[in-house]
Amino acid sequence: MTDHVSRQLDSTTSMQVRQHAALLSGRDFWSSVEGAGIRSIVMADGPHGVRMQGGEADHLGFNHSQPATCFPPGAGLASSWDPDLMCEVGKALGREARSLGVDVLLGPAINIKRSPLGGRTFEYYSEDPRLTGELAVAFVRGVQGTGVGTSVKHFAVNSQETDRMRVNAVVDERALREIYLSAFEYVVKNASPTSVMSAYNAINGEFCSENRWLLTEILRDEWGFDGLVVSDWGAIKDRVAALTAGLDLEMPGSGDEGPDALVAAVMAGSLDEKLLATSVGRLRRLADRTAITTDYDRSSDVEAHHLLARKAAGESIVLLRNEADTLPLRRGQKIAVLGELAVDPQFQGGGSSHVNPTRVDLPLDEIRDALGAERVVYSAGYSRTGNVTAAKELIESACEAASSADVAVIFVGLYEEDQSEGFDREHLDLPASHLALIDAVAKVAARTVVVLSNGGVVSLEPWHDQVDAIVEGWALGQAVGSAIADVLTGTVNPSGRLAETIPMALSDTPAFLNFPGEQEVVRYGESVFVGYRYYTSTNREVRYPFGHGLSYTTFVYSDPDIVVTASDAATARVTVRNDGQLVGSEVVQLYIAPAPSDVRRPIRELAAFDKVALRPGESRTLSFDLDRRVFAHWDASGSRWWVDPGTYELQLARSASDIAYTLQFRLDGDVEGPSDLTLDSTVKKWFEHPVVGPLLLDVMAAKMPDAQRGDSSENSTMLKMVESMSMGQFARFPGVDLSHGALDDLLTAAGQET
Ligand code: BGC
Repeated sequence: MTDHVSRQLDSTTSMQVRQHAALLSGRDFWSSVEGAGIRSIVMADGPHGVRMQGGEADHLGFNHSQPATCFPPGAGLASSWDPDLMCEVGKALGREARSLGVDVLLGPAINIKRSPLGGRTFEYYSEDPRLTGELAVAFVRGVQGTGVGTSVKHFAVNSQETDRMRVNAVVDERALREIYLSAFEYVVKNASPTSVMSAYNAINGEFCSENRWLLTEILRDEWGFDGLVVSDWGAIKDRVAALTAGLDLEMPGSGDEGPDALVAAVMAGSLDEKLLATSVGRLRRLADRTAITTDYDRSSDVEAHHLLARKAAGESIVLLRNEADTLPLRRGQKIAVLGELAVDPQFQGGGSSHVNPTRVDLPLDEIRDALGAERVVYSAGYSRTGNVTAAKELIESACEAASSADVAVIFVGLYEEDQSEGFDREHLDLPASHLALIDAVAKVAARTVVVLSNGGVVSLEPWHDQVDAIVEGWALGQAVGSAIADVLTGTVNPSGRLAETIPMALSDTPAFLNFPGEQEVVRYGESVFVGYRYYTSTNREVRYPFGHGLSYTTFVYSDPDIVVTASDAATARVTVRNDGQLVGSEVVQLYIAPAPSDVRRPIRELAAFDKVALRPGESRTLSFDLDRRVFAHWDASGSRWWVDPGTYELQLARSASDIAYTLQFRLDGDVEGPSDLTLDSTVKKWFEHPVVGPLLLDVMAAKMPDAQRGDSSENSTMLKMVESMSMGQFARFPGVDLSHGALDDLLTAAGQET
């Protein structure tokens, strides 16, 4: 323990310390304290709508908030794979936030979907950090373009709700860097978010809110973050440790407790008052960055924003299956709409992100509007609250409706109580009454379409093969009904792609054995093998892979090409053409298969993507700059990003499991300088070094008896046996006898050659 000498502060300093300490703790639930020329800053959830509470405040969505447009939550929006759309939605959210008096919107929420059971997967974007990062950059730019701030959350590794306030996530550094921190890094470096929200959980033994490595060394020193760090609501356990670690603002306010603790620590000499001043400086900057510069006319926004919510929801829908062109529905067909969710839709999850929508479009009304009320019958099929006898009757009437229709469209999904902040799910199944309805209807209907409303992945078993089409509706926000009708009727050509894998079974998922942990510890045993990285690397069958999604038109790719532009960069090109009869959008996905490496790498990783809208017959050539990070892995032993030299493969794909073209190319990659080799480096490293290796071989060969010199297969077996030894150990071996002086000379000679 360090001994601190308590201090006598002069009265000006003492007043300033008190004022600073007060400013660094919230005034109430949603705003900061005003003082020192800094105005009070108002914050609100977030992320997919503005939850501005007028009355009783809470952070779990219990109490009402003012009406605001409910855009699709993250699970939906991310399935659009469309950064431009994210930006547009961000702008609309910024305008609404502004008009409701909100300075900072608490989002985007960009934790990685480690397990489909995660309670907040409906809010989060994807299992892939690059997709998450690019979409989040666009979202932040959109919101901040209106002058409203964002708070990128929850930093970091908040991939579960179970025990979220206490759980210690034990994660190896490669998984942290490559998977869990990567999207945050991307946003910080490319969109300059005004704030970052620290998570509740601990990482490797240190709570995020008190984690200096995370909040200062990585976030600020490495990534250059210059905004404010705010705590998740109530996340701080030790105010002084939090400030010292780099957490600026405590939210919500803790009354006198937080400020008093800071003042006492300064007086006791254990906290430098400069740290308080620095954090207050960041608060001032946040106030400046979010200062009101423009006025928005809210009245005109409501309708325009609802239309945008409809467009966004339409782009979020993923057409999973469409046998014999069952969809789109055609005018004149008799349609049976089944399932209570068609009249009482689910379009968001529970918890702090819960938005009070300005209106809600009901699927049944919208389908009737589009196809003619007389062609569409409705039957509830199940009841959220009903009993077993009633359930049987509901299914019978649904089957009756289905058997006299051309197509039965069944609405099934999860309810808000199934997917919420605060707890994780325990299984992936749809409610039993929904499964029973699908099973019964599929047996009698001429054609069956299933429309899913679910914030998190649900199992499509055992009914998948019994139905003709499946529309993955995710959580679509307030325009749920019109957006689904648009896609079902073909007014909108589906263009969403899965941002997460749909597995065959829960037990197939990579975190199955380690989720959600026990006794307040969760081990990220699967390391970097999250989502498709795991399924593809282990060749495990999935129901639908990451990146999958159908369209009512077809696209063909041609002329793929890759040009290496540097030792660690390349540019890829491909032409895509709409070969069908309808306007549509294709998501072109590029994956990279890595060169052989010392570390075990996923067999492919998403490197780039682009969404392109094409008229029938139209084609476009797309170009992708692939930077160093696309090829690199985190080299934990050297604490650096590292690009292995060797042959890589560009894979042009329709999903993580459907590769259309491959192109191989060589990268020179990173090479250790001779001076990076030490006596502790392995024999393998020495021999593999492009300059040192050959020199070493010459020295060794000179020492060998003539008879052995030429036998290269024997030599390489010998080398394999010793390659993991340190050079120091190897050099001392009888028969090797390389003196340290000889090795030094060798490195000097190599240094002169490079
Ligand atoms: C959530 C945050 C949210 C905050 C304020 C917390 O419970 O984790 O995402 O922004 O409450 O409502």
